[in-house]
Amino acid sequence: MQMRSVSGLVLFVLMAAGAGRAGAAELSERQSLLLANNCLQCHARPGVPAPQIGDAAAWKKVAEKGEAALLANAVQGLGGMPPLGYCSACTEQDFRALIRFMAALPAPAGAVK
Ligand code: HEC
Repeated sequence: MQMRSVSGLVLFVLMAAGAGRAGAAELSERQSLLLANNCLQCHARPGVPAPQIGDAAAWKKVAEKGEAALLANAVQGLGGMPPLGYCSACTEQDFRALIRFMAALPAPAGAVK
């Protein structure tokens, strides 16, 4: 019950954050949960040397590497970023969506969620 309401709050915050970002990639509900349960423990935690969600300047620099490089680094790990970001349930599709969402990369036309 406790976990459920926390996830609900995170989802609400994510949807509120997403609403103001016209053109940014969107996540399915499942992917929002994957993000909340796996990525946000570092990417929404000041003090961890990870680009923080919503920090456009930090992600802009990272995004310049391009989606393919970011995908490879997320899967293989990079510095303090653990391989797969601890998300063993994430598919390649999920990683692409999560990376586009966090790095504010545009989704290619016809991309599936
Ligand atoms: C244990 C903490 C931790 C978790 C969990 C985590 N990350 Fe990271 N992530 C980091 C850190 C630290 C960096 C910065 C690495 C560096 O530049 O040395 C990073 C960097 C990244 C980058 C940029 C890579 C690059 O090429 O600069 C991406 C993309 C990323 N994370 C995606 C994710 C996704 C998606 C998830 C969830 C599935 C996730 N991370 C979960 C700590 C984490």
